Amino acid sequence: MKLTRLVYFSFATRPMGLAATYALAVAASRNNLAADLTGKLYFDGEMFIQILEGDLRAVNRTFQCISKDTRHRDPCILSLTEQPTRLFSDWSMAYSRPGSAAASVLRRYGVESLDPLKLSAWEVVSIMSELPTLEFPALQTA
Ligand SMILES: Cc1cc2nc3c(=O)[nH]c(=O)nc-3n(C[C@H](O)[C@H](O)[C@H](O)COP(=O)(O)O)c2cc1C
Repeated sequence: MKLTRLVYFSFATRPMGLAATYALAVAASRNNLAADLTGKLYFDGEMFIQILEGDLRAVNRTFQCISKDTRHRDPCILSLTEQPTRLFSDWSMAYSRPGSAAASVLRRYGVESLDPLKLSAWEVVSIMSELPTLEFPALQTA
């Protein structure tokens, strides 16, 4: 398989509370487990940033599906790269949001927010990989 990592961002079309966001992450996680996809979703209340890892065709198929979802708009690909290993192998879809722990990670990188238009794709992936994941057992691969 051609292990691929996709990073994209998009904007919520309506307010989404924690419950709705969890519901989204749980459905995503269930599908991703079946498609051998892993990754992480960040949502700050307005913007989503998502990393999806797996076989190129599976990543592409799922991204096409996600792109049509009316809960967000203007999905913009930040990067699509081949990778030797997965960064999020333990999570079929980890979920992070802003908070004090996230803020301390951002401070270490010298930035105030996770802004995909200001940061390089590499910085976004590094920061995302360090952001604390909300513990939600259903989202774990094992
Ligand atoms: C920001 C965002 C991220 C999503 N991420 C995923 C994902 O990683 N995997 C997935 O299968 N669906 C994801 N979805 C949901 C899909 O758009 C779609 O609703 C889902 O695949 C349909 O699954 P179902 O047919 O099992 O209900 C995401 C949706 C949004 C808005």
